[in-house]
Amino acid sequence: MKILAINGSPKKNGKISIIVKEIIKGSLEKNNECEILYLSDIKDISDCKGCMKCQKEEKCIIRDDIQIVEEAIRRNEVIIFATPTHWGNVSGIMLRTIERLFGFLIEEKPLGFPVAKAGKGKKAVLVTACSTSWPFNWIFNQSRACFGRLKEVCKYSGIKIIDDFTLTGTSKMDKIPQKYLIKAFMLGKKIK
Ligand SMILES: Cc1cc2nc3c(=O)[nH]c(=O)nc-3n(C[C@H](O)[C@H](O)[C@H](O)COP(=O)(O)O)c2cc1C
Repeated sequence: MKILAINGSPKKNGKISIIVKEIIKGSLEKNNECEILYLSDIKDISDCKGCMKCQKEEKCIIRDDIQIVEEAIRRNEVIIFATPTHWGNVSGIMLRTIERLFGFLIEEKPLGFPVAKAGKGKKAVLVTACSTSWPFNWIFNQSRACFGRLKEVCKYSGIKIIDDFTLTGTSKMDKIPQKYLIKAFMLGKKIK
């Protein structure tokens, strides 16, 4: 399988980055082809202007570095959406990216019904980390709301979610305990 991890953490050595690397390590053991795209490395993804021209023109008319993300999605079969939970949502850079992918991923029909485009038939794994501990991350809608955003994207884009991973209580962790690294590695091995 061809697997793409879109890393939406602003930190290259943060918790999300460590978990994503473990998932990828596991996937590589199964001879998958894997790549990690660090959104924080991409220089120029501007904000969505809300013009809706992407609905007429197939994709966003602003041709900046969003093309890097579009091309990576096109050439892979499984997309790992990885983002820290920020204010009960995806990170700012992840939000900006998924907004800019609107016309690439869906076409809204006249009554507003979305039709899946470039993501159709692909699979997804959702990954987040949050400082709130279990079960409060769920009860208080922290990581749950973050996944809610990503589920919305996947649902209308025709992308099937095959697994997810949440690292909770990160403010108490200097290092990620081994059991979570093993869990991430095993998840990676299972992707197919
Ligand atoms: C701007 C900002 C907002 C955050 N909002 C939340 C939140 O709403 N809920 C939560 O549990 N943790 C929140 N956190 C904590 C992060 O989710 C947590 O530190 C996570 O482990 C960061 O992952 P990283 O190391 O990959 O950046 C927030 C952190 C930042 C910087």
